[in-house]
Amino acid sequence: MKWLGLGAVLLAAGCGPTPAAEYGEELFRDAALSESQYNSFSCATCHATTATPPAGKVYVGLSLHNVAARPHWWGGYETRLLDAVNFCYTAFMRGVTPLAPEDPKSRALYEYLVSLGPDAQAPAQPFTLVKDITDVPRGNASRGADVYKAACQECHGEPHTGKGRITELASILPEVAQDYGTLFPGVSPGLVFIEKVRHGRFFGVGGNMPPYSQQALSDQDLGALLEFLRL
Ligand code: HEC
Ligand code: HEC
Repeated sequence: MKWLGLGAVLLAAGCGPTPAAEYGEELFRDAALSESQYNSFSCATCHATTATPPAGKVYVGLSLHNVAARPHWWGGYETRLLDAVNFCYTAFMRGVTPLAPEDPKSRALYEYLVSLGPDAQAPAQPFTLVKDITDVPRGNASRGADVYKAACQECHGEPHTGKGRITELASILPEVAQDYGTLFPGVSPGLVFIEKVRHGRFFGVGGNMPPYSQQALSDQDLGALLEFLRL
């Protein structure tokens, strides 16, 4: 299997779209790739696949354009592409057993990821997690409404009602913050909210929401979002 960074070889051989890549694309867009009944995310929920992501949409993960041609992933934490994928698979998609290299699904997914890149080599993508949580200046509420639509709505549904949310496990925003005063006494609800967005399920927060890196969401857009949600 060519999971070890040999995408360049495949490309040099001039492979067009293969049946395996087509099956891989189906898997990429299907939440049922994960065996967990509690998972509602597909890879496509969080990742664009084009060089320029579609307008009006903010993805929490990086675009996977040219992904197989990058030297490493996750800001250098992962040096095998399958490990980078399995990180998402187990952390966000509630997959219990990581995808194995010889699994036909892994192979198909790999062929699809390779098909997303015309270049034999591509630079690693920066990924900066915000560790220390500090307050951010509030911004423009109408900008914040756009940010909500582009970034949060696919999973959380409409503000205040959750209408159209991807799963009932996704909290209703911003109402979930009403309990923060008793759950986290002495901390402003806005700060708890910022921590969730910046840390996702990590740093002891829990759940399966992904974290927004600095690259995925600027402090400026986060501040606008908070103003819109009145937090
Ligand atoms: C719930 C959201 C979510 C889902 C679902 C998800 N990912 Fe990710 N993924 C992320 C985040 C966040 C990162 C870290 C930021 C980044 O590097 O894109 C990431 C990182 C990656 C990376 C490393 C990119 C790089 O260059 O550093 C790869 C590869 C990847 N994901 C592939 C996949 C594949 C394939 C699937 C489906 C099996 C998947 N992801 C499912 C959110 C998700
Ligand atoms: C890929 C889907 C997804 C995206 C995108 C997403 N969320 Fe979430 N979020 C969830 C899920 C699922 C939960 C419940 C599980 C958990 O807490 O991780 C959640 C929980 C939360 C919580 C509640 C934590 C608590 O107190 O229980 C907040 C706050 C939140 N999200 C804010 C946001 C904001 C703001 C955005 C947009 C910038 C956003 N989320 C984008 C899936 C998502």
